[in-house]
Amino acid sequence: MSTTLVIGASGTVGSELSRLLAASGQTVRRVTSQAPAHADQVQLDLVSGSGIAAALDGVDRAFLLAPPGHTNQHELLGPVIDAARERGLRRVVLMSAMGANADEHAPLRRAELQLERSGLPWNVIRPNWFMQNFHTFWLHGILAQGRILLPVGRAKGSFIDARDIAAVAASLLSRDDLAGRDFDLTGAEALDHDEVAALIARETGRDIRFQDITPEAMLEGLIGAGLPRDYAEFLVLILGFFKAGYAERTTDAVQAITGRAPRRIADYVREHRQTWLS
Ligand SMILES: NC(=O)c1ccc[n+]([C@@H]2O[C@H](COP(=O)([O-])OP(=O)(O)OC[C@H]3O[C@@H](n4cnc5c(N)ncnc54)[C@H](OP(=O)(O)O)[C@@H]3O)[C@@H](O)[C@H]2O)c1
Repeated sequence: MSTTLVIGASGTVGSELSRLLAASGQTVRRVTSQAPAHADQVQLDLVSGSGIAAALDGVDRAFLLAPPGHTNQHELLGPVIDAARERGLRRVVLMSAMGANADEHAPLRRAELQLERSGLPWNVIRPNWFMQNFHTFWLHGILAQGRILLPVGRAKGSFIDARDIAAVAASLLSRDDLAGRDFDLTGAEALDHDEVAALIARETGRDIRFQDITPEAMLEGLIGAGLPRDYAEFLVLILGFFKAGYAERTTDAVQAITGRAPRRIADYVREHRQTWLS
């Protein structure tokens, strides 16, 4: 029986991935950094490195991600990749981020390279910005002010539904024909934030608009919300890449790997309308 370790199993992508794997009859070992509350959970803290050996013993596949809030992703993931290599896992899928491979020295790229050179059967998936950000990270601004406040101008993004990322990861974890390949994952269409705000406004009947803000205002807001300065600066940097147009590209990877077209943002907005009405 195959056992898959899922890092970030309580998070946006990992929870859906765990559900998909379990639904297909696979055994899932769900990682949490907190005290486990369920029999299928295991405690592993990527920051301290505690729990890695116990978490990986007996698994033959693993899904890796670096938790948000940290800019040293290669240091967090390196020991897990080492442990996976020592145990000869049959597949390791790493979720990185679209654009991470633009700089060979970027921390996420360094984690990708370590995995690619590990000798393990690997996949790297690099999703674009998640649709789900609109009801998580950007929710407060929408509820409090009716505004999506971001320093991205009129640039477009091919936002991806996290459920499609999970579906891709589930497929890659269980098939051999695509091992050793990386994939940029996007939705099928690119929209700017005015267009996304209009979709949410139409669905909810609320006055919700996009407002372009300066990178400095964004940084101040993120730090004010409690993010560490270095991570806040990292987010402002990559929002600058969005503004420069790097998030607009679309790929056919979701369709090619899962056999299904990516979910559309209009459908995502309809399904989540209640979150912007509370
Ligand atoms: N949001 C986007 O638009 C976007 C776009 C591209 C790529 N990404 C990438 O997506 C990843 C985040 O995925 P997500 O949104 O699915 O996650 P998420 O919903 O933010 O959840 C984070 C997960 O990390 C776990 N975690 C937190 N601290 C941990 C620690 N010290 N050790 C082990 N696990 C820890 C949490 O579990 P516990 O609380 O149970 O420990 C939780 O399951 C990041 O690597 C980010 O770069 C995001």
